[in-house]
Amino acid sequence: MSDVILLEHEGPVSLLTINRPDKLNALSREVLEGVAAAVKTCEARETRALIITGAGKAFVAGADIAAMKDMSPEQAAEFSALGHRAGDLMESAPFPIIAAINGFALGGGCELALACDFAYASTKAKLGQPEVNLAVIPGFGGTQRLLRRVGLAMARELVYTGKMIDAAEALRIGLVNAVFEPDELLAKAKETAQLVATKGPFAIAAAKRVFNEGADLPLREANQAEVAAFGSCFTTADQKEGMAAFLERRDAKFTGR
Ligand code: COA
Repeated sequence: MSDVILLEHEGPVSLLTINRPDKLNALSREVLEGVAAAVKTCEARETRALIITGAGKAFVAGADIAAMKDMSPEQAAEFSALGHRAGDLMESAPFPIIAAINGFALGGGCELALACDFAYASTKAKLGQPEVNLAVIPGFGGTQRLLRRVGLAMARELVYTGKMIDAAEALRIGLVNAVFEPDELLAKAKETAQLVATKGPFAIAAAKRVFNEGADLPLREANQAEVAAFGSCFTTADQKEGMAAFLERRDAKFTGR
C-alpha cells in the first residue's frame, strides 16, 4: 500500500488515514485507488468497523485540482467513475465505515464522508461542495448522496453556493452525527467502532445492506428486502447465541458464524 494511505488495525477495528497533508489530502488517482485497496484489505481480514480520517489539518480538501485541470471531458468522466468505484466499494463493504472529519472536508472530501455510513466531526471541521467555484459540479456522488443525507433543498443550496459550513451547521442539517473537541474525535470514533464490533457481524452487514439498497427502493419493496434480510439472520449461530444468552441472562459470545 502506498504511503498516501496509512492503514492500522486495533483488533476488529481498522483506521485508514489519508496521508497527503502537504496537499490537504487531495484525492488523486493514487489516493482513490488506495482507499479502494484498503477497503478490500479490511474485508479480507474481517474488519468489523473502519474509521477514515485525514493527516494534518484537513480531512480531505477535495479532488486533486492540479490533476484535473487539463483533463479532457472523457478523462474527467473516467476520474469521476474512479471516485464512484471507491464510494461503491465502501458502501458494499460488509462493515460500517465512520468518517472522523478532523478538518476541511470539501468537494471530494465531503463526498468521501458521505460514502461512509455516518460521520463525526471535530469542532475545527469545515464542510462543503465548492465545485461550482471551479465551474464544475460534484463528481464523486456529491449531488446524489448529499440529497439523500440532508434533503434536496439543503443539498441544492450547498451545491449552488459552494459555501463552507462549520461543524455546528453540519450537525444541525444532519450531515454529521456528532461534534467533538479535536483531541477527542478519534477516541470517540474508536469507541463507537469498538461498540459496533461487539455485535453479530452478519447482522451488522445485513443492516448495512438493507439501509443502502432500501434507500433507492419504494417503501414496500424496501420492506421486503428487510424481511428477507431479517430471515437470513436466523441462518447464523450468532442469532441462536444472542437469543439464548438473553434468556439465560448472560453476555452473548458472538463468533461471526
Ligand atoms: N487539490 C489539489 N491541491 C490542493 C487542494 C485540492 N483540492 N486543496 C488544497 N490543495 C493544496 C494547495 O494547492 C496547496 O499546495 P501548495 O502548498 O503546493 O501550493 C496546499 O494544498 C495547501 O493549501 P492552501 O490553499 O495553501 O491552504 P489554506 O489553508 O490556505 O486553504 C482551503 C485551505 C481548503 C480553503 C483551500 O486549500 C481550498 O480552497 N482548497 C480547494 C477546495 C476545493 O475547491 N475542493 C473541491 C475540489 S473539486
